[in-house]
Amino acid sequence: MGIRIAVLASGRGSNFQSILDGIKEKDIDGKIVILISDKADAYALTRAKENGIPTQVVLKKDFKTREEMDLRIKEILDSHKVDLVVLAGYMRIITPALLSPYKHKIINIHPALLPLFPGVDAQKQAFEHGAKVSGCTVHFVDEGTDTGPIIEQTVVDISDCKDAHEVSEKILPFEHKTLRKVVAKFSKGKYIVEGRKVRYERR
Ligand code: GRF
Repeated sequence: MGIRIAVLASGRGSNFQSILDGIKEKDIDGKIVILISDKADAYALTRAKENGIPTQVVLKKDFKTREEMDLRIKEILDSHKVDLVVLAGYMRIITPALLSPYKHKIINIHPALLPLFPGVDAQKQAFEHGAKVSGCTVHFVDEGTDTGPIIEQTVVDISDCKDAHEVSEKILPFEHKTLRKVVAKFSKGKYIVEGRKVRYERR
């Protein structure tokens, strides 16, 4: 049976691909039942179609408010009976319209060691700050920007990177590994949130 996963992506979808690979290689017990994008040209849509995964494009311009857009996304998730929502390079803030009904069911991959360098261009922030290490974080999504309870983090040495692009390239494979590991654990147990702390119980 396994868990029913929805992925939200705005771009090339390499993190989405890492979940696909985890399912194919059987470390994730589940299936991606829908890929939703807010960008009609997101390459993640191509990856989904190539793998026979249903897709849905939800464009902000079709809605008066961000809340209405999120309500539409909620409808899509509800209709697919989704157990876990993964934001994989999804560049929008989730409003309470979607967050409340899916509390502790939405996770995000961020390319920095939160709470350091939240928001956009996290890799560039780390490089320009002169950080010797950065990394990636998988966290529950809450009403803030990259502020939810932390599930898993991986440290990456970036002291030898010559620019922000090299930092991004170096961290990306660790994002894939870390996200895939968390989704696999979601599929075989549960994460329990106690305040800011997250612990895991295997089924
Ligand atoms: C990743 O670095 C992700 O952390 C950030 O944007 C990039 C998206 O990559 N939000 P992809 O679309 O998953 O390839």
